[in-house]
Amino acid sequence: MDRIRIRGGRPLSGEIAIGGAKNAALPLMAAGLLTEEKLILANVPRLDDIRTMAMLLAQHGLDITPVDPEGRRLAIGGQIRNPVAPYDIMRKMRASILVLGPLLARAGEARVSLPGGCAIGTRPVDLHLKGLEQLGAEIRLQGGYIEALAPGRLRGASIVFPFVSVGATENLLMAAVLADGQTELVNAAREPEIEDLARCLNAMGARIDGIGTDRLVIEGVARLSGAEHTIIPDRIETGTYACAAAITGGDILLRHARLEHLSAVSRTLAESGVDLSETEAGMRVARRNALSGTDVMTEPYPGFPTDMQAQFMALMAMAEGAAMITETIFENRFMHVPELNRMGARINVHGASAIVRGVPQLSGAPVMASDLRASVSLVLAGLGACGETTVNRVYHLDRGYEAVEQKLAACGADIERLSG
Ligand code: UD1
Repeated sequence: MDRIRIRGGRPLSGEIAIGGAKNAALPLMAAGLLTEEKLILANVPRLDDIRTMAMLLAQHGLDITPVDPEGRRLAIGGQIRNPVAPYDIMRKMRASILVLGPLLARAGEARVSLPGGCAIGTRPVDLHLKGLEQLGAEIRLQGGYIEALAPGRLRGASIVFPFVSVGATENLLMAAVLADGQTELVNAAREPEIEDLARCLNAMGARIDGIGTDRLVIEGVARLSGAEHTIIPDRIETGTYACAAAITGGDILLRHARLEHLSAVSRTLAESGVDLSETEAGMRVARRNALSGTDVMTEPYPGFPTDMQAQFMALMAMAEGAAMITETIFENRFMHVPELNRMGARINVHGASAIVRGVPQLSGAPVMASDLRASVSLVLAGLGACGETTVNRVYHLDRGYEAVEQKLAACGADIERLSG
């Protein structure tokens, strides 16, 4: 199993190119199920999660063809020949559930394995299923599979989410675009990735109003056509490298980054002593002064993203003063805490909050990655620490960060991947 070795303490300087957003690319790929024509996606990141989604779509019968030498433009299209999403793929990536809505809408049936247990919380899919039932689907759970049927077409309905869910909003949006009549999604998630999906669906001929708000109104259409769409830059990758610059006291340009998608993160970083500015090429991040402890609470967009919580905690571990970090989205997303403490951090967890008492210096240690964002928080801590850190189980990292060690090494980090 690969490991990453870091010798910390070097300020980063230079440029990092931000790739397309993983969490936008995954639903957009699933949207390829909604048409037999070609959907061309540009700025696709090269990540394990993207390969998993491509495998899933391929076994449903779609062709996924790279249309450039680098494989960043994908053409997706074809007939649905198999409406089954097997456990073997579903267990690797929870976002595979995003094929459920499109399969039902286009093929009228789907048999999708329940996603496997996930380390950061129980993460049920009840909102997805209830919403699809409201659109007229018949759903039963059988042998670990969701068996869903939509005799005739799905029918538009008014769906009020009891709380905000990114995945449920995306699944229902993709189901509703081909339903008969009007659907209203109330208390919908407003993440930029949802806006990206809705824009692409409209380019395919869907009729979605209220894009960017928490009330989406969808006028169903009989069929969708192909389209060409460029995926937005990854705001979480951007925020992660901004924390890397900050933790090392460096100065880097994040090419293609869009500050407008990072408002809560950039506000919080600025409050803790990091300089951020928008440039024509992207975003510049630098830190010249000491970091100061800053409280933060994760919330649905436009609040502070849960996907940035672990990285911000690594930063706060080296701040002056204390920071209270409260996680409101997932109930078990502090698995990086004991690993950061192994590196000399002083963090206590009380229920949904972690109290981080900053220390002047972290020290390198062997640590274990437990999930995607926890892994990268350990890389950040390693960059800021003195001495050597080895991050084990980096396969989590490869699911969501492209060429992380090359990007950081190009900015002066002493980091390498050890195979085997
Ligand atoms: C997406 C992101 C993930 C991010 C999360 C929150 C993708 C591929 N993944 O995940 O990176 O951390 O949003 O911003 O975009 N819930 C239920 N029932 C449901 C659905 C969700 O109880 O049917 C709960 C979840 O357990 C969680 C909360 O709702 O506690 C929010 O989850 P949700 O927004 O659905 O996250 P994902 O779409 O899975």
